[in-house]
Amino acid sequence: MSNIKKIAVLTSGGDAPGMNSAVRAVVFSAFQFGIEVVGVFRGYEGLIDWEVKNLDLEDVRNINNRGGTFLYTSRSERFLQPEYRKQAADNLRKNGVDALVAIGGDGTLRGAIAFQSEGINTILIPGTIDRDVSCTEYTLGFDTAANTAMEAIDRIRDSSVSHGRCSVVEVMGRKRGYIALWAGMATSADAIVLPEKWDGNFDSITDAIKRRHADGRNSYLVVVAEGVTDAPELAELIRKKTGIESRVSVLGYIQRGGQPTAKDRMYGSLMGAFAVELLQMGKQNRIVAIKNDILIDYDLEEALDIQNNMLDSFQYELSLRLSE
Ligand code: F6P
Repeated sequence: MSNIKKIAVLTSGGDAPGMNSAVRAVVFSAFQFGIEVVGVFRGYEGLIDWEVKNLDLEDVRNINNRGGTFLYTSRSERFLQPEYRKQAADNLRKNGVDALVAIGGDGTLRGAIAFQSEGINTILIPGTIDRDVSCTEYTLGFDTAANTAMEAIDRIRDSSVSHGRCSVVEVMGRKRGYIALWAGMATSADAIVLPEKWDGNFDSITDAIKRRHADGRNSYLVVVAEGVTDAPELAELIRKKTGIESRVSVLGYIQRGGQPTAKDRMYGSLMGAFAVELLQMGKQNRIVAIKNDILIDYDLEEALDIQNNMLDSFQYELSLRLSE
């Protein structure tokens, strides 16, 4: 058991639906253990500038259904520098904070690891629509984002079929293609272009479209993860090589917003409560993770070692088979 009296909680990096549920569960669980909670605004930036508010149950009672993060967020350049990390740690110590719960993705994990040398115990909750934290099978926000993308693509497809066009839809995921993979499979895309698998060869896409065209098909759907290639260029190439009219839709930030799905609210609640339990057990510098649908935890450094750019190979192979 620990003798933690006060903790801080922040959200960092891209906002993700479900972050609010995690903060809510952190506050509720902490109160049940008699621990005070300080909410830090704008992620690591707010830690440096000590932009905070003491959170009580009333502050978080009605946030479960809200998209975004009510604590706001940032991608802090300053936190990359040791002098600002020291300032952040001094702020925590001066204000009697014993530990930090940080909710975010890959960048937040790297920030938390760098923060260890300042002697601040940090528990990380994986929250990012990209699912780019490899030690866990789930990161908060992915389900909402994938569903939002799927619904938008369904609508785009209706129009594409009506006009007999090819639609190239760009979804989020600069380094990781899970949103593209899931939204693409769920909408029966003809091709799904993923950063992890991209070999720079457009011919496989245009050849497949030509083949299907010859078989009598009249509309096509290509889902591409941002960062792989320029979607308008890809659409132009498809038009040139196949003669089929092609249109681009970039889904952008609509994928990050909106009310969290039940899964994101539930996993946010589970992960938030588990983070506080880890602190109560006296654990130091851990990341909350899901494995076989069970909550587990890893050391932060170990989580960084596990970071890779591998996709679930069965899901990927199946996406190829189902788009034949
Ligand atoms: O949060 C993840 C993510 O949405 C990525 O998919 C995307 O590449 C990036 O954030 C966009 O970040 P920003 O909000 O800084 O434009």
